[in-house]
Amino acid sequence: MRFILILLLGVVLMNVQAQNPERFFPEDKMVVPGTFYYPEHWPENQWERDFQKMADMGFEYVHMAEFSWAFLEPQEGVFEFEWLDKAIKLAADKGLKVILCTPTATIPAWMGIKYPDVYVMYSDYQRGEHGSRQNNSLVNETYRRLSARIINKMGERYGNNPNVWGWQLDNEPEAKEDYSPSAQKAFRDWLKNKYGTIERLNEAWGTAFWSIRYNSFDEVRIHNKDAIVWWGSNPHALLDFKRFTAWVQAGFLNEQAEILRKHISDNQFITTNYVAVAGNADARLSDKLDFICYTAYPNYGASNLGDKGFRLGDPDKLMLANDYFRPIKGATGVLEIQPGQVNWANSNSRLLPGTVRMWLWHSVAAGGKLASSYRFRQVLYGVEQYHAGIIEIDGLTPSQGGEEYMQFIGEVQKLEAIKGEAEIPASYAAKKSAILWSHENLWDHNRQPQNSNWGLWDHTLKYHKILKSFNAPVDYVSENDDWSDYATLIVPAYQSVDSSLVKKWEEYARQGGNLVLTCRTANKNPDGHFWEAGWSAPIYDLIGAEVEAYDMLPGNMNAHVEMGGNEYGWNVWGDMLVPYDESFVLAKYTDQFYAGKTAVTQREYDKGTVTYIGVDTSEGEMEKEILAHLFTKKGIAISDLPEGVFAYWRDGFWIAVNYRSEPYQFELPDNAKIIIGEPKISPAGVLIWIE
Ligand code: GAL
Repeated sequence: MRFILILLLGVVLMNVQAQNPERFFPEDKMVVPGTFYYPEHWPENQWERDFQKMADMGFEYVHMAEFSWAFLEPQEGVFEFEWLDKAIKLAADKGLKVILCTPTATIPAWMGIKYPDVYVMYSDYQRGEHGSRQNNSLVNETYRRLSARIINKMGERYGNNPNVWGWQLDNEPEAKEDYSPSAQKAFRDWLKNKYGTIERLNEAWGTAFWSIRYNSFDEVRIHNKDAIVWWGSNPHALLDFKRFTAWVQAGFLNEQAEILRKHISDNQFITTNYVAVAGNADARLSDKLDFICYTAYPNYGASNLGDKGFRLGDPDKLMLANDYFRPIKGATGVLEIQPGQVNWANSNSRLLPGTVRMWLWHSVAAGGKLASSYRFRQVLYGVEQYHAGIIEIDGLTPSQGGEEYMQFIGEVQKLEAIKGEAEIPASYAAKKSAILWSHENLWDHNRQPQNSNWGLWDHTLKYHKILKSFNAPVDYVSENDDWSDYATLIVPAYQSVDSSLVKKWEEYARQGGNLVLTCRTANKNPDGHFWEAGWSAPIYDLIGAEVEAYDMLPGNMNAHVEMGGNEYGWNVWGDMLVPYDESFVLAKYTDQFYAGKTAVTQREYDKGTVTYIGVDTSEGEMEKEILAHLFTKKGIAISDLPEGVFAYWRDGFWIAVNYRSEPYQFELPDNAKIIIGEPKISPAGVLIWIE
């Protein structure tokens, strides 16, 4: 009996251990720097020199075999791994670990010729063709069979190679839409499994509308939004297609992980590099991976933060990527970071000196455990010819980004040398906030924005940025997570709800949380239909108000709300509320024919509070006031950092970065001891201190 108990305990502990991604990272390190290398692009006699250079520059691992299927299996069933064996060995001889990539994003020419149905089909029913990447159908059985075979072969060969540190699955899983015959069939099977009967599907999709009704699953085709006249297609069918597409993508990654697990040692991790944060793929669904990483290309000329913004990149990119991916498995890292100019933006300007270093520090500050640069050498030919590398085209000279990587690596080592046991400062922990997110909600909004100025990301990022300006740690969480650790939970425009979610919100507030629901929340049932009741009826008791109607203004025209004597402009969405007795009215509309109606309510809810912010103000200043008040009322001190300046606490260090075009004078506490930088943080500057 005792023996069985010990055995059981052992199994439980092993599982906990297996689930904790921290175990893959050396304890004494904050972050491990690495880079991408494609041996097949370079003469073999340069490999050793290149690996030596990587090691000399301070890189500790190298990604290989991504996109190399045609070299690993040059003909069907003929495998050539010797070149990769050699590259891994040479890298290891220089002290570099290897992250091996499954090569499934680039199918070899022979495969498409012999099995043309392995290609994806686009919404114009044009089949994908050879000559690029990610042109395969993820649900095609031949593609899946051949993918499984090469992954098995790689797992068998390298699963116990001590020089292989971990695995990266595929490349930037993007969940692309596929209209091929393979996808049509797989979608029907998915629907059958989801709905069971065609009657249930007809009901859920509301097919009575416009006689879309089906007699059997065999009649169902993927609703193609691009091939349907501009009257639009059934929103429920389109939403299911999005769900299916994300499910297919995650299923493929999970299958890859399961194949590898049969072969690999327990010390090798499995991850992938999701785009930060792409719309179609849902990283939470690929739950068989050890942790989830992301790729980051912050500079595509999009930032409007002053005259240098186009060289510094979009500050929201890394802010979001880290806070979105890290909570999924408790660890993340940047698997590709832009090392300089890219080749695909509208205008590929040079980066302001220091920018790559700043991005790297931003990702580390927010918890990043890996920092891979995309790519080591700038390639001399091919689609990405103009894309910068860590090394210039001569193969020898570090680029501006390469120099900054070296500086960063040196600085990390400096921190690691003094890093000790550190506990998160109580004042920082007290600000921990969460944002409730679901991709299904995003897809739903994207399909029916109801206003071309509306975007769920924009709306959500407004709150995220406010929280960051308070210097609060932020996690994106899902409906299934435990929210009890968070002082504040923001629920931005969360349309479809069921009763258990509403109960969970109630419970969160009851236990003392600050629950903040925003406009458009709870107006649909789980099928995405409106309730046959008042608008957003399921949350009336929770928010202590009824939602009577909504409005919006055309173009950039602003209407106004008033709160605490201040007026705020709004344009994109405003819910009109009828408050119950228990609620305070925080803001009212001041113009339009409904002037005097309520826009924001707040109520005490047992130990916590529930705030309903029914209006999306143009600058977010009103929302900031409301959140600031919620924090300060609980005695939690907040900062007021301007947009583009971020500060994080990690491993005992405070790390601040500045994406603004002008210097920012950081107010340090008296006991601060600066390790790197100066309090006046220059554009692209970094300040690191301890307290
Ligand atoms: C990423 C991709 C890389 C490379 C890079 C170029 O999206 O994952 O393989 O193509 O873009 O910027």
